[in-house]
Amino acid sequence: MENVVNFSNARAERLGAPRLPRLIGHRGARAYAPENTLVSLHTAADMGAEWVEIDVKLSRDGEPIVFHDEELSRITGVSGLVAETDWAALKELDAGAHFSHSFVDERIPHLEDALSVILDRGLGVNLEIKPCPGREKETAEIMLDCVSRIWPDAEDDEDVQPPLISSFQAVSLETALEMMPEYPRGYLIATDIEETMRDWRAKAEHLQITTLHFDRLFLTEKEGFLDEFLAAGYPLLSYTVNEMDIADTLFQLGVISVFTDKPDLLDE
Ligand code: G3P
Ligand code: MG
Repeated sequence: MENVVNFSNARAERLGAPRLPRLIGHRGARAYAPENTLVSLHTAADMGAEWVEIDVKLSRDGEPIVFHDEELSRITGVSGLVAETDWAALKELDAGAHFSHSFVDERIPHLEDALSVILDRGLGVNLEIKPCPGREKETAEIMLDCVSRIWPDAEDDEDVQPPLISSFQAVSLETALEMMPEYPRGYLIATDIEETMRDWRAKAEHLQITTLHFDRLFLTEKEGFLDEFLAAGYPLLSYTVNEMDIADTLFQLGVISVFTDKPDLLDE
């Protein structure tokens, strides 16, 4: 590795990034509770997480929900597409039984309910805009409309930091920049999504991103990119890191935070 950048949180803050902890609970506490559910958020908070990441997409009828996949089957056991299912039907589905019997009846959360839990528990949040194909702009618009109605303004409550808005989709982040420029934006780059790697630096500048969030697989599969990320000067975050030795390597390179399914990773 040619470049090792020692980001401090203070430096990151000067660049407009929020104060971020070492660990951000991925989809809540995905290793210990069904991902992207309210119980997953509570579990992360119970384990001492300071920040969580959740995925936001739209039901067919345009309600913002917390869910990762385009298809329903992995989480709910029911076949079908989120984009073809109304909220009234989505909220009846079980989103916990796939994880274990003790989470039967856990539901897909509406974004409003997830944000209420996040605020009640004093968590910071990274909202990943995860649009179904073709709904990149609409998902960002509806999500940000919901968030801006619920999330307190920094001037009103200095303990509450603005949400960090991220996406693999440049169009979604462009919409975030237009609608809520005061919310920091993180661009997500994946080793297996060509679009995110193409002209990433020009995109990052155009989108006025605050942070860069890269797949930890860049460490082993595309080291050249990692050098570019380190040299670009953005505060860096990396996903999804469930092994302490990989987290250590990333922190030593200058990565500020890692997304982890295990909010207790540092205790291992
Ligand atoms: O935001 C970090 C990470 O969640 C991105 O990948 O597929 O887990 O949403 P994914
Ligand atoms: Mg995500």
